[in-house]
Amino acid sequence: MSITVGIDKIGLYIPQHYVDTEDLANARGVDPDKYLIGIGQEKMAVPLLEQDIVALAANAAKEILTDEDLETIDQIIFATESSFDFSKASAIYLHELLNIQPYAKGYEIKQACYGTTAGIQSACDYVQLRPQRKVLVVSADIARYGLDTSGEVTQGAGAVAILITANPSILAINQESISVTSNQFDFWRPHYSDVALVDGPFSTQLYQDLYLKVMERFEEVDANYLQTIKAMVFHLPFTKMGKKALDKYAESKSNILDDKTKENMIRVWQNIYPASTVLNRQVGNLYTGSLYLSLISLLIFAEELNSGDVLGLFSYGSGAVAELITGILQPQYLDALDKNMIIAHFDRREKLSIEAYEEIFSQSLTTTEEVVEVSEGTDGEGFYLSRIDAHRRYYAYKS
Ligand code: CAA
Repeated sequence: MSITVGIDKIGLYIPQHYVDTEDLANARGVDPDKYLIGIGQEKMAVPLLEQDIVALAANAAKEILTDEDLETIDQIIFATESSFDFSKASAIYLHELLNIQPYAKGYEIKQACYGTTAGIQSACDYVQLRPQRKVLVVSADIARYGLDTSGEVTQGAGAVAILITANPSILAINQESISVTSNQFDFWRPHYSDVALVDGPFSTQLYQDLYLKVMERFEEVDANYLQTIKAMVFHLPFTKMGKKALDKYAESKSNILDDKTKENMIRVWQNIYPASTVLNRQVGNLYTGSLYLSLISLLIFAEELNSGDVLGLFSYGSGAVAELITGILQPQYLDALDKNMIIAHFDRREKLSIEAYEEIFSQSLTTTEEVVEVSEGTDGEGFYLSRIDAHRRYYAYKS
């Protein structure tokens, strides 16, 4: 018999420092409205050297885990496209830093910004068979395109931690989903490059095309269920992206739904969409975590949501894989999401000058045998990369 599984808790961590995109526009000789309205980004999170993906993820996860969780987590699934090691998984560091029970297993998964969704589904399948156990799915990334590139304003960084359990408090995930894969070069990062290679216009087009493809398939498979979706949440590399996808779907002709039905359905999604972008506008692209930051944003800011509502989550990973999963909001979802803890991250932020941001961006960690003390913890409370010793990374916690 199938039981209810899904998202029981969600934690977030974003770096303390940010760049104001209006300052960035002025420095790059661009009209600020292009960034603020055309792209839809106000602030861009900037990580310090000691905030690598392990530190970001450990901080996001620490916020949500109780001692009981640490004893019942069987797996740590780490989704990232910013990995610093081709062999050892970042999840192994988390296992130690978070003090998760010794018989748990950890591994890393990759498919651009789609990875977290694959991790969540794998976690749900595991818990479905073992309802007493839990799985931690973390996503952490540092989005880098380079100084003075067209992608620069869509950079960002941060981590989202999601605890998957039976009888979840936030979102029950449905087993059925619609996915599509297409071998493309819209955005990728060969191992020898520390910035993404991207065909920007093609990437935005492909994103919309694959959204359309998924929606057409959804109509064919279960048009009635599609119409029950109350809000459509998107992977947001920048906040205009989801709007573009919704508009494209609205313009397309359906073979299944009549015009009025489709128009009404999309209008509901368009009205609720801004609530899902509030936090993303302030952070930038988290890559694997972006869809789930949009989910957090929706849950905090969409006042018209109720328990029992069906949500659609559109996951997109360049290269490319897209998938629409759905879930049902649970009665305790507002209590389970610690809104104050999430908002506190945004209250502690410090603005960087463009010069300071450029200097931080240009720094890099050692790649030699030397011993380097990276930091004594300069970004408030939390985990940080403290030392690199003969290619080995060591972390510390500042309280
Ligand atoms: N006032 C208001 N709007 C303005 C404006 C002004 N003064 N000037 C320009 N605009 C508008 C443009 O009309 C355009 O709007 P539409 O998209 O609605 O037409 C928008 O601002 C952007 O303008 P451009 O297309 O000219 O911008 P650009 O060429 O500089 O690049 C970008 C934009 C392609 C998103 C670029 O930032 C980029 O390459 N980003 C990284 C790649 C990316 O995020 N791709 C998204 C899909 S891939 C994905 O989702 C995976 C992932 O996470 C990377």
